Amino acid sequence: MDFKRYLITAALPYANGPVHIGHLAGCYLPADIYVRYQRVRKRDVKFICGSDEHGVPITIRAMKEGVSPQDVVDKYHKIIKDSFAEMGISFDIFSRTSNQIHHDTAQAFFTKLYDAGLFEERESEQYYDEAKQMFLADRYIVGTCPICGNDGAYGDQCEKCGSSLTPEMLLNPRSALSSSAPVKKMTKHWYFPLNKYEEWLKEWIVEGKKDSWKPNVYGQCKSWLDNGLHPRAMTRDSTWGVPVPVADAKGKVLYVWFDAPIGYISATKELTNQWSDYWKSEDTKLVHFIGKDNIVFHCIIFPAMLKAHGGFVLPENVPANEFLNLEGRKISTSRNWAVWVDEYLKDFPDQQDALRYVLCANAPESKDNDFTWKDFQDRVNNELSAILGNFENRVFVLMHKLCKGRVPPVDPEFVTDADKALMLEIQQTKARVEAAIEGYKFRDGLAEVIDLARKGNKYLQDNAPWSLAKTPELQTENQKRIDICIHICLQLTANIAILINPFLPHTATKMRKKMKVVERMLDWENAGRMDLLKTNYPLLAPELLFRKIEDAEVAQQVEKLKNTLPVDTTPAMEQPTEQTATPEAAVTADAIPTIAPQKPEITIDEFAKMDLRAGTIVAAEKVAKADKLLKLEIDLGFEVRTVVSGIAMHFTPEEIIGKQVTVVANLAPRKMRGIESKGMILMAQNGDGKLIFVSPVTTADNGSEVR
Ligand code: 2FM
Ligand code: ZN
Repeated sequence: MDFKRYLITAALPYANGPVHIGHLAGCYLPADIYVRYQRVRKRDVKFICGSDEHGVPITIRAMKEGVSPQDVVDKYHKIIKDSFAEMGISFDIFSRTSNQIHHDTAQAFFTKLYDAGLFEERESEQYYDEAKQMFLADRYIVGTCPICGNDGAYGDQCEKCGSSLTPEMLLNPRSALSSSAPVKKMTKHWYFPLNKYEEWLKEWIVEGKKDSWKPNVYGQCKSWLDNGLHPRAMTRDSTWGVPVPVADAKGKVLYVWFDAPIGYISATKELTNQWSDYWKSEDTKLVHFIGKDNIVFHCIIFPAMLKAHGGFVLPENVPANEFLNLEGRKISTSRNWAVWVDEYLKDFPDQQDALRYVLCANAPESKDNDFTWKDFQDRVNNELSAILGNFENRVFVLMHKLCKGRVPPVDPEFVTDADKALMLEIQQTKARVEAAIEGYKFRDGLAEVIDLARKGNKYLQDNAPWSLAKTPELQTENQKRIDICIHICLQLTANIAILINPFLPHTATKMRKKMKVVERMLDWENAGRMDLLKTNYPLLAPELLFRKIEDAEVAQQVEKLKNTLPVDTTPAMEQPTEQTATPEAAVTADAIPTIAPQKPEITIDEFAKMDLRAGTIVAAEKVAKADKLLKLEIDLGFEVRTVVSGIAMHFTPEEIIGKQVTVVANLAPRKMRGIESKGMILMAQNGDGKLIFVSPVTTADNGSEVR
């Protein structure tokens, strides 16, 4: 189907902290690439975002900092907005949900459903903190886990043993905010009957979206629908948020996941008087870009709300990404384990496209991926700079050296099949990049453009115009070949600028300026043309497009991360709070850490066959060309052993040297990547994938038996 308009939204980030690279990779960068591409295709597109300024995390942060929630959102709205702008995330509007227009829009939406008699009023008992005078979401109740005895378990989950809990299951429950024992108090809320939309959602998603939605998105929706839907509270007890527009609702606000997605509508209203053309017409293509933790809200709850209200277009697609980890660990706002975009921009000024490149090339499109500073350096230096930057620079240098700094002419008689093949390659690449972007496969699209530059390098190498210039007796003929080669390379450079533009807009602009062409040249329809630069046209002097990332810079960033101290260790600041805030709120399947089932019983004799020893890691290094492996030297007291261990995604070599571990010393040796590994170290793995060494609490003598 051809669409008349494109309405593209990116998840509204919570205004309770800056944005990090995981946000960029998961949602904002792919959305921006998609939108930039639609714009240069001359499609009518609106790109909508803003900050999500309500919800418990914001009130909690305000409480902790001793400021008002408004102060918190004012501060972070600005930081987030500036970070996005500097990274080139080209929203048409970056609004905020504390705006009056949003309050009005969200209240009108609620009222329409209320007047239609859709909500169910229910009274229930909920935990209340008398000291803080507020109702507590499950996450803000801590206590002792009834299963493993962990004293810091949350009301929705024990992070130590991974069990899913309810506040009622905790022993000695207390408020995470005041440490006082919470009391139960009756409260009334309005529930949206999600169950009534189950059949319709099944038809719309299970039957209608199977082939067009990404498998991770479709799978998560299907599992929600298979498990059955239940009424869901759409209001909360709080003073911060959109007041519930009902007479007897003092001290109650709309649930943040009710009001936030309506923020897409209010921001569009703020942007244009024609907002209803985008939201209310069937020929709009509505696409929500989000991270995987937002799938249920955008694919099930918000569409059901839109359907209940009536008159709105539904999302055509919701291309959610998985998560980006950082140096082997889950990015965590509360633990400050993140690369904050505002800090990156200070540390690497003018390197926006380096980050855009790495985050797109390594985007978690179909599975969680890992960002490491070493990989960042490798990709920038060995791909972006060594392939694309190098090609562009060589062409400019050679044009100045061999063609007087002007676009040389082409004598058709001297054009070869290899020249024609490269020209054809440009057109084919254009088609492949289009298909990739339209199919939300941005990594593939970017790889195609880099590959085209790689082909340009090979073409230059094969033609070697610098050596043709060295044979004066063939001067005229050779000059014709030199001219053709440089001409084609220059046209290829202009084409690369067009194709790379949605991904790396700062780079495309730099390239365009060096070629002294107007912005219009970057229109998508121009890709594939071989007359983008006029013969005899003088171009600017060579200048490198990218700079190398130095070892010292990488070391500094790694050091900065290592020195990261938890700024806030209370559970309160974790983002998933809003998903788990009511007893009926379900948590997405991925979010629940699981405990592996127990293995079949063994006898004591079978166990006794294992020779477990205490040992100290005395050396560690990465194994070449194996992302996951570390080669360890372990002092076992009686000898130093080489053990190859698959822990490189979780630990850097430096951080584990000196650690005492438990080694299975009599495991049959085996070769991994050509290295003989003699033994295995024991590790525990949390439900969230985090690895922990099984080490003695105090140091044992190396070589001592573990029984
Ligand atoms: O997960 C989050 O960061 C939410 N603030 C996203 C909201 S998206 C939309 F519904 F507004
Ligand atoms: Zn537990």
